[in-house]
Amino acid sequence: MYQFITGLPKVELHLHIEGSLEPELMFKLAQRNNIEIPFANPDEVREAYDFSNLQSFLDIYYQGAQVLITERDFYDLTWAYMLRCKADNVLHAELFFDPQTHTARGISFDTVMKGLTNALADAEAQLGISSQLILCFLRHLDEASAFDTLQQAQLWKDSIVAVGLDSSEVGHPPEKFARVFAAARKQGYLAVAHAGEEGPSSNITDALDILQVSRIDHGVRCVDDPQLVSRLIEEKVHLTVCPLSNTKLKVFQSMEQHTIVDLLRQGVSVGINADDPAYFGGYMNDNFTAVACAHTLSQKELGQFTCNAIDASFCGLERKLELHQQLQAYMDSQ
Ligand code: HPA
Ligand code: ZN
Repeated sequence: MYQFITGLPKVELHLHIEGSLEPELMFKLAQRNNIEIPFANPDEVREAYDFSNLQSFLDIYYQGAQVLITERDFYDLTWAYMLRCKADNVLHAELFFDPQTHTARGISFDTVMKGLTNALADAEAQLGISSQLILCFLRHLDEASAFDTLQQAQLWKDSIVAVGLDSSEVGHPPEKFARVFAAARKQGYLAVAHAGEEGPSSNITDALDILQVSRIDHGVRCVDDPQLVSRLIEEKVHLTVCPLSNTKLKVFQSMEQHTIVDLLRQGVSVGINADDPAYFGGYMNDNFTAVACAHTLSQKELGQFTCNAIDASFCGLERKLELHQQLQAYMDSQ
């Protein structure tokens, strides 16, 4: 099974680039930029990654991102992630980035974008991995800050396919950003949102109805509302599920209790993603393996996760066909 997963073509649709900052790179950047971090070595950083819920993770995650200062830092971060994609046979990746985490510290939007887009262009040319960028608004900040961020994105509009919504879900429901999402969609961006991770299933319904998102990030709380599950199936709404993230943040107490396989078998379009791999203990292959170890899955079902992600991706039709062909060729060879 592990061999099958290793060779399986994959598409990642839920990955926070700041969440791919490995402790070793965090240390290197802290030294390069003369920034003090409250850890003596990378092992100490890893020991601090013991989370009780989403907020306990976010506090450490925003702290870690403070070592990212220069264009080169953002390039190095992104390039390191793309090398991991290559190792895990991820053929296409859609990356979230959180501009407000950086602009609030005086780092310019341009600095972030130059580092990210140059690394992604090199990854396409040298590694053959296609990608898209999704600008996420931090939902614990206010609407005005989100509007300001949308304005700053104007010059980079052609490099950003969609807007998203992340950070603390409880207390910050989708309707808080109704007007920002309406403005973004009017400008031509697609939309996604984290919903139903820690927050109620009504956040999923509201993200669909109010924010008019194309897909839902996490969405695992949909199981609390059978009518919503039927709607997701009928409307082919894709859920970008992140199994290791969900168990590390105690959304599920164990991988055995995770509902991703039930949802798949009911006909919901679900995929497997890493979310914040440096913090949650694994990239794509680790997430696939963790699910396959806790649940009995056929090769066809494992391939279905990739098939669903290809259909839900924001890449062009031609690239989608290529990805489907590569997946089919692999399945046929097994
Ligand atoms: N949920 C909400 N916000 C986030 C996450 C997440 O899983 N990862 C990074 N920001
Ligand atoms: Zn996420």
